[in-house]
Parts: sequence; C-alpha cells; structure tokens
Amino acid sequence: MNKKDWLKRKDLEYKNNELFYGNIRCNDLAEQYGTPVYVINEIIIRERYNVLKELLDSVYTNNEIHYAVKANSNLSVLKILNSEGASVDCSSAGEVFLSLKAGFPSDKILYTGNMFTNEDFRYAIENGVGINLDSISQLDRLTRIYEDLGKEKGAISFRINPEFGAGHHAHTITAGREIKFGILNNQVIEAYKKAKDYGFTRFGTHIHIGSGIIDATDYEKAIGKYIDIVMNLADTLDIKFEFIDFGGGLGIPYNPEQEPLDLDKYKEIVIKPMVDLLEQHKIGKPVIKIEPGRFIVAEAGIILTQINTKKDNGYKKFLGVDAGFNTLIRPTMYGSYHHIIPCQIHENSDVKEYDIAGPICESGDILGKNRKFPEPIEEDYLAILDSGAYGFVMSSVYNSRPRAPEVLIKGKKSYIIREAEEFKDLIKKQKVPKHLN
Ligand code: LLP
Repeated sequence: MNKKDWLKRKDLEYKNNELFYGNIRCNDLAEQYGTPVYVINEIIIRERYNVLKELLDSVYTNNEIHYAVKANSNLSVLKILNSEGASVDCSSAGEVFLSLKAGFPSDKILYTGNMFTNEDFRYAIENGVGINLDSISQLDRLTRIYEDLGKEKGAISFRINPEFGAGHHAHTITAGREIKFGILNNQVIEAYKKAKDYGFTRFGTHIHIGSGIIDATDYEKAIGKYIDIVMNLADTLDIKFEFIDFGGGLGIPYNPEQEPLDLDKYKEIVIKPMVDLLEQHKIGKPVIKIEPGRFIVAEAGIILTQINTKKDNGYKKFLGVDAGFNTLIRPTMYGSYHHIIPCQIHENSDVKEYDIAGPICESGDILGKNRKFPEPIEEDYLAILDSGAYGFVMSSVYNSRPRAPEVLIKGKKSYIIREAEEFKDLIKKQKVPKHLN
C-alpha cells in the first residue's frame, strides 16, 4: 500500500513535515504528557469495530463481536466498545472484573480461560458470566461449584482445538496436537455428553486458532474441520447451540508493504460456510460470535518516545530512546515489526540507517532494526505505530522503570486515561520485615 494511505488508515498524517495523530500534533502530545506515552485514538477504535460489525451483519444478523479484552484493557477503551454495543471475551477473572467495571452486562461477557482455578469459576458463576472450558477435567469442578453456590447452570461451551493453527509467531499459534489449548476432536462428544449428564442445558462451541492472521486462507482448514466437528456433535447428541464462536486472530498490516486482511475473503472463509449449513442441520439458530482484539485496537494506538542518545560506534548507528521492551515487548518477544516514524522531519537532512534502542539493560532491547530515517537530533520525538494492541497490557516495570501513562485522543481533544506510574508505585505493595528495618 502507498505509505501515505497506509498512514491515513491509522489517522496519521504529515503536515509541513510534522506528524499529526487525528488533529493533534504529536510533538504537542509528547510535550504535554511526557514520554514515553501510549496514545489511543477513539475514532479508529469505533471505526474498526463497525467495519467488522457491518461485515457480519451483511451475512448473518444474529451475531456478536466479543472484543478480546487482553489486547487493551484500559477502562476507557472498554467503555468505547461498550457504547458501540460490543460484547467482550475475557481470559482471566481480572478481565471479567474490568469488563463489569466498564459497564458490560454479564450476559455480554464470555470467559475463555485456560487452567481455571476454583476461584476463577466462583467469580464467573457469581457474576453470571458464560464460560468456555479448556478441558474435560475442569467440568467436574465447575459443576461442583455451581452446585455449592446453588446457582442455576449457565451456558457451557468447550474450546475445541481443530488441530490446524495459524499466527504471526509460534507463540501465538493456538491450535495443533502439541498445543496446550482446548480439546481435540476425539474428546468432543465425550465432553458435551458429560455436560448434558451433569444437567447443563445451554450450549455453545468455541475455537481460537491463533493471532495475527493476515491471510484469511490460513483459517480455511481449521474452519472446515471445526464446522464438521460442530455438525457431528449436534447430530450425535441432538444439541441445539446458543452460540458458535470462531475466536479472533484477525491481523493488521504492521508494515507498509503488507496488504491489510481481505475482509471479504475472511467472511467467505470463516463465516459463510457455517451460515450455509445452519439450515441443513438442526442445531438451532445460534449466535455467531467472533473475538477480535488486535484488529480493533492495534492500529488505534501509537507510542511517543524521545530520542536521548545518538550513537555511531563506527560500525552501526543507534538512536537511543526512552521506550524499551518494558513499554513494548513485541519486537523482543516475537521479533515483531513495528513501524517507527519521526514526529518532525528536519529540512535537508540526510537519510541514514539506525537501530532504535530502548533503555533496558539488555542487548535485546531493540525496537526496530536497520531503520532508515532523515537524520534526527537528540530530543526529537518518534512514534512507534500499531501499539494499541498488546502494548501497555504487556508492559512491565523491569529495570524499575515505572509504567508510562495512557492518553486518549478524539478529534482535537486529548484526555489522560491512565496516569504515569511514579517511583513510589515501585514500593507500594512491598513490605519490609521488622528485622530489616
Ligand atoms: N480469543 C482468544 C481465546 C484468544 O486467546 C485471543 C488471543 C483472542 C481471542 C484475540 O486474538 P487477536 O484477535 O487479538 O489476534 N501477545 C500476542 C498476541 C497473543 C494473543 C493471545 N490470544 C501479540 O502481541 O501478538
């Protein structure tokens, strides 16, 4: 895609050599809030949600988009999506807590956990939240807890592992025989039969094959197998499903050279085959669900960081910045590419190649390798793009660097939505035993 259009789809634009996010100069944001700072763009979140909603509505109106909270769990982000009518998918009781705090009604919250503890189950049941189980063994404990609490059994669903996975990195492929998630086909009938025997009467099914899928054909095999499994299950046990969940995984173009996910192709490969079969099998009129995280928020966020060091060791040039893998771990953890661009371009500057290095005391703290830039000066700001998903949520205070703040922009306005942590936060939860005082 041409670079200008690629930036424009993320609401970024250069005017007179200065970078604007929405209608705000990035330098102004950096100066007002300090760096590093995560900046989230409300308009893009709403737009991405609605693109997907219209896509689903065009083929089957009985659908729900469960935003995957793990991608960005800031309360304001959740409230934006709640106001659009989204549902949510949570991977922990903490995410259920945040979703409830953001105002999601419990029937719009699905908890797809793995390695559930009894406390997780109790929290979900007490709050009336639906559960996607990850193993048959968990069903015994779940049933016992329902009975202990004297609560009516809610909808039950198992995460099915269709054995065909996909994703941008081995760590994000979540289906396959060697993968820890879900139950394989050979256990599916047993799982649902057991649930029926335990007195569950409301059922759903779930898959999530991986994350960062930019070519929709990568879904093809998994979806084919999933649909076969669901149809066979419905026919064998005479189950009417309340929902069929296709998980998330929809990728975004992190690199200007990448084409965005072809949404029509996604619709044809993932959603339509299921819809086409609904009439032929008596499985009820299930809600079709998807669980995108990255697609909705990744391109709705940037990190602004300041250059504090220019170094040329004779072999390599480095730009040292104040964001590191404590701020954005994806490049270090997965070798992920994030486009990095200057917030201002100086007239007549030569283009040179740099590694963008963070301040963490490890050589792996490189946010971008061999990046070509018009030569900047120390104290200039840079923008690290597509960090709205799996950015802040995966941050840490490694090297005892307090976490950066989060700011929301909408049109010309900006709002602080999470304050910067301070040194005193580093010791807030620590206790020193008497003999050391
Ligand atoms: N549903 C389930 C059950 C999931 O496990 C996930 C992601 C999603 C939905 C949302 O996937 P998405 O649409 O965002 O791809 N930290 C990695 C991504 C890990 C995703 C884990 N599960 C990264 O930074 O790329």
